[in-house]
Formats: sequence, structure tokens, C-alpha cells
Amino acid sequence: MRNAPVLPGPWLALPHTMRYLRDPIAFYADARRRWGDPFTLGSFNGRLVITGRAELIREIFAADPASFDTWGADALAPFVGPASVLLTSGSRHRRQRKLLMPSFHGARMRTYGAAMMAAARREVAGWPRQQSFRLLPAMQRISLTVIIETVFGIRDATRRNDWSRAIAATMDAVHPAMLFFPALQREFGGIGPWARFRRLLAQLDAMIAAEITARRTHGDDGDDILRLLLAATDDDGVAMPDDEVRDQLVTLLIAGHETTALALSWALYELARDPALCARVCAELGDEAAPEIIARLPLLDAVCQETLRRHPVVADVARTPRQPMTLAGYPVPAGAAVMPAIAAAHFDPTVFPDPDRFRPERFLERSFAPYEFLPFGGGARRCIGAAFALYEMKLALAVIVRAGTLTLRDSGPVAVQHRGLTLGPRGELPVRFSAAS
Ligand code: HEM
Repeated sequence: MRNAPVLPGPWLALPHTMRYLRDPIAFYADARRRWGDPFTLGSFNGRLVITGRAELIREIFAADPASFDTWGADALAPFVGPASVLLTSGSRHRRQRKLLMPSFHGARMRTYGAAMMAAARREVAGWPRQQSFRLLPAMQRISLTVIIETVFGIRDATRRNDWSRAIAATMDAVHPAMLFFPALQREFGGIGPWARFRRLLAQLDAMIAAEITARRTHGDDGDDILRLLLAATDDDGVAMPDDEVRDQLVTLLIAGHETTALALSWALYELARDPALCARVCAELGDEAAPEIIARLPLLDAVCQETLRRHPVVADVARTPRQPMTLAGYPVPAGAAVMPAIAAAHFDPTVFPDPDRFRPERFLERSFAPYEFLPFGGGARRCIGAAFALYEMKLALAVIVRAGTLTLRDSGPVAVQHRGLTLGPRGELPVRFSAAS
């Protein structure tokens, strides 16, 4: 019998894992040159078989979802809760997605559009004139306000501020290392970063539990996602229990807040670096005020897509096969996870020529298959909030681009940095704003 081919990859994993953690985009470009595609790497959470090749990504996304488990669930469970849709698999995962999806259908976006535009307008109104401020926290304020209003239905300004403070404090207490090194998830006699995070999460949990109880007790005529979740029933007429509703709410907060803020920050960074492109986007917007029309503008759409390609917010997704499987003829070692690498696929020069260049026109010239361009992942676990995130990006950009001009303090290239599960700019993008006359 002929020996099975052995996956290429580094002998010594640690230095490469550290390079991956520092900059996955540069790491994947280098890995393609050194080991080809697919290749294998040991990680703190087990062995990975990684690919950025479209046809292999298609194989993984098209396979029966029941043949995979989630990956790294133990490290993530303390953050989102064990019943989170991010962590479940099989029929439970399918049932949860069915309950969640109606809140995120394209048609629902119209309900959220006004809140998205209002959040961006309030934020811009507070920006200092001719004084520098940090773009990333500004975008985080917009995306957090949008989640609080659309998911929890909280519109009163005082309550919104209380929720904002509680959520931001909890998120700020999460250090990315807690996710990559689960050993750090330990309380040392009630002190230390993990203990602090747990305390803040308990306070946020108490607020969420009180909100769920109030809604269940007093009935509900809101138009928000929490109302839909509480009212939703599965095929057997069974509603989601409260602890599961809690886990999905925290998941939506974590999955939907930072991701969208990072994407918005990158889009504004690119527009600030290219005033001619920004002027074209502004001209395309004209005086249009209707969110559903703004959402369909081709150049604005291309700017958002190219932002998500050139600056992937999630670098990769992983699945653990339950059965032995092969990828490109290589047997995947037992217990290893397969990893479609978004940050590799988006820089494949055969699909995206001159991949480092930000060029929205590529999305006007042709369309890309879902396994070539996959900022929201794919298959049975594709991001539930994809339409929501794109809608918010477009509406917030429309408000900001029309309101005036952003100038970067440093218009050179910006390095990337892991921020927990996401990938963002290193630093917080200091900018100045001058209002349109
Ligand atoms: C630019 C913004 C966003 C990006 C780039 C993004 C990206 C992703 C990616 C890559 C996945 C993993 C898919 C996979 O494993 O194949 C995911 C999952 C998910 N996202 Fe997003 N996301 C964004 C915004 C949002 C928003 C706004 C929400 C909700 C408010 C959201 C909710 C979720 C949920 C619930 C999942 C889990 C889906 C599952 O496991 O079945 N995301 N997202």
C-alpha cells in the first residue's frame, strides 16, 4: 500500500503561531509561498489544516454540516454561554438558526434603518471640529447604539447610556489572550483580569435577565429582535427558554458590535486616503434619504465589499470533522480542525489581482463566488448578521460622508492587530473632522 501524502507545514509551530497572532494576512501570504495550500499548523487549541483555495473552501462549506463539530467552543463558552448559536452543532444549531434568522431577513432591515441613521447622526453631531479624535471608538459607539436599540429595543437616552456603559465595560475587560490561552480563564482569589471580567459579565447578565422578565411580564409591542426571539417557536411550537435567549443576546452583542465597528473604521480609513473616491461616493449619494435606496447604490456597495475583502474582520473560521476526511488528497489528522482562511482567500492573486490594493471597482467589474469572497464565512454557519452589518455600514457611511471630511492624522499604511476574535487596525485611527459647508 502506498503511504498517504503528508500535509506540508512547519516543524516548530510556536514561532509561526506567534506570527499568525501578530498579523494573519502577512502570515498566510508567507505560508502560501513556503508550504503551499493546504498546509498544517499546530495551535494552542489543537492541530489545524488551513486553506485559502476557493475550490477547497467550497468543499468544506458544501459538506454535510452534521459531519462537523464547532472548534474552540470551550474557550468561547464562558463569554457567550453554552447555548450560544456560535457553539452548538447538529440539529440544535439548525433549530436555533431557524429561530434567529427571521430577525435578520433582508425585509426586516427597513425596520432598523432609521435607528442606524439616527445613531450615526448623533455620533457625528458630537465630533469636535478641528481637533483630533479616535475613529475606532466613534464607530464602536455607533454600532453599540444600533445593537442596543434594534436588539434590545432600548430607545430612552438614559437607559441607552446605562446599557452602553455596562456592555462597553464588559467588552473592554476581555483581553484577546483570554481566548487564545484558555489557561488564563482563572480567578486568582477574586482578583485579576478574569475575575474582573466575570464580575462585569454578571452585572450585564442581571440587566439582561431583568429585561427578559419585564418583557415576559408586561407583554411587548416593540419592534426589536428581543421581542421576535421571545415570541419565536420551533416546528414543535416550543419557545426558547430564558437562559438560551440570554446566550443568543450576548452572542449578538459580541458578534455584531465590534465586527461592524471595525468594518466601518476601515471603510472610512480608505475613503479618507482617497478623496477622489470619497467625492464619487458623495456624488452617488446625492440628497437621497431613503435607507432602502442608499443600500442599493452600486459604488457605495462596492466600497463596502472591497473594505471587507481588503480588511477581513474575521481572519478564518474552523470546523472539526467528526469522521475521517481528506482535503486535496491529504488525510486530515484525527482531531484536527479544517480552517477556511478568509484572510488567505481574499488575497489570492489569481482571484483578486494586485490583492493588496484597495480597488472597489473590482466588485463593479465582476461578481465573486461565495467561496472566493467570504467575509461572513459560509455554509451552515454563515454569519446571521451579514445583511444587517452591510445595511448599517452603508447607512452610517452615507451619513458621515455627507456630513463632512475626515482627515487621517497618519495616512500611511496601518498594521493589523488581533482584537479577540476579530482583526482590526493597530491603534485607533486618529482623525480630524471638518463639517461640510
Ligand atoms: C462586518 C461585520 C461582520 C462580519 C465580518 C461577520 C463575520 C462573521 C463570520 C466570519 C462568522 C462565522 C461564520 C462561520 O463560522 O462560517 C459569523 C458568525 C456569526 N455572526 Fe457575524 N459578522 C459581522 C456582523 C454580525 C452582526 C451585525 C451580527 C448580529 C447582530 C452577527 C451575528 C453573527 C452570528 C449570530 C454568528 C454565528 C452563526 C452560526 O454559528 O451559525 N454578525 N460572523
